[in-house]
Amino acid sequence: MNNLERKGQSPFYPGQPVPVELFVGRKQEIARLIRAASQVAGGKPQAVFITGEYGIGKSSLARFVRVLAEEDPGLLGFHVMLGEADSLRDAAVRTVQTVLQSAAARPGPAESIRNFLAKYVGEQSLFGLKIHLDRLKRDAADISRGYLPFLRELYERVAGDYRGLMLILDEINGMAGKGTFARFLKNLMDENALSDEPLPLFLILCGTPQRHREIIERHKPADRVFEIAHIEIMSNEEVQEFFHKAFDRAGLRIDEDALAVLTTYSGGLPKLMHLVGDAAFWIADGAVTKDTAVRAVLAAAEDVGRKFVEQQVYRAIRSQAYRSILRKLARHEFDLSFRKRDLEKGLTQDERRKLNNFLQRMKRLGVLVPGEERGQYVFRDRLTRLYMRMEAMRERRG
Ligand SMILES: Nc1ncnc2c1ncn2[C@@H]1O[C@H](COP(=O)(O)OP(=O)(O)O)[C@@H](O)[C@H]1O
Ligand SMILES: [Mg+2]
Repeated sequence: MNNLERKGQSPFYPGQPVPVELFVGRKQEIARLIRAASQVAGGKPQAVFITGEYGIGKSSLARFVRVLAEEDPGLLGFHVMLGEADSLRDAAVRTVQTVLQSAAARPGPAESIRNFLAKYVGEQSLFGLKIHLDRLKRDAADISRGYLPFLRELYERVAGDYRGLMLILDEINGMAGKGTFARFLKNLMDENALSDEPLPLFLILCGTPQRHREIIERHKPADRVFEIAHIEIMSNEEVQEFFHKAFDRAGLRIDEDALAVLTTYSGGLPKLMHLVGDAAFWIADGAVTKDTAVRAVLAAAEDVGRKFVEQQVYRAIRSQAYRSILRKLARHEFDLSFRKRDLEKGLTQDERRKLNNFLQRMKRLGVLVPGEERGQYVFRDRLTRLYMRMEAMRERRG
């Protein structure tokens, strides 16, 4: 019997928005977003930009709020992953696809939505709904120009059951840099606000602070459209609550000292908590012991190393001097934070001259963040730090 048969499904979802049952924390952000949703249901359109770094939980929060708000105050929500989209036409195509696909999962409004978009619906197959993409693409320009009327008509079809619409635009990397997108967002909200009977629309965007900045730079007035909801790392209590929930669900007991190890190495980052948790799930034999946890952390560090350190950091750092500083940094005894002047001591003249640029570079790459004091730097996450140290040890052993 292999692991999968014996263990069933992992309750961890590295790289995917977390299912509602395993969602933890974010109480304030949720309260705030639900308040905004109530305003929308009362007839006042709202727009919120959920920002935070990659992997912090923006998409998960948006998904969770969509599910809550669908119950109360009763907004019908669509979570559009724009992904590869880099034009308004692509965005329109993705929107219609999402509306059709998610209608299938909702028995209530499904039929009215399918009737509304009947033109694009092919036959129902074993694998779900078939969509006539060619027809949809042909109409995409019209839909993107008439995006608000499109949403209005969509809403009219379901208004008996819902008090408004929630539209989540996520994975906006391809769109954020386009002036057309920034103007589109601003126009959408303005046009709606100025109409005689505004559509009760809750627009949510998800993106890193950098994407938010890009949008504003392309079109300044877009700044006034959005309230910002910035999400930060989780508290240790929230991370522990998550591990308890997840291992419970998998029917695995977790020891206190194991919980401490997994929590420490997650460092409040939801992405890492799923990564170490998943590794522990596959290693664990009946229970998550401290030994399981340590092995899981090492495995997760290797994973971070392969995907982040090797691909993004080492590749970007070609210079011999930088490489050498990095090795010395990896061998240093400190925990997560160090002072520039302590690192400096072990460097050559040439390396010292390049140290400032090196540190700037590391910040841009997301390896280091500034510490509390001047001249202090902190590793962004513990797994990256651990991987670099493991590397340095391997090198030393030859
Ligand atoms: N509140 C949460 N509770 C539990 N897991 C979460 C939570 N938020 C995010 N995650 C998990 O963390 C990882 C990153 O979340 P995601 O929503 O994809 O982040 P982002 O959209 O900011 O990049 C995913 O594996 C997701 O399942
Ligand atoms: Mg996301």
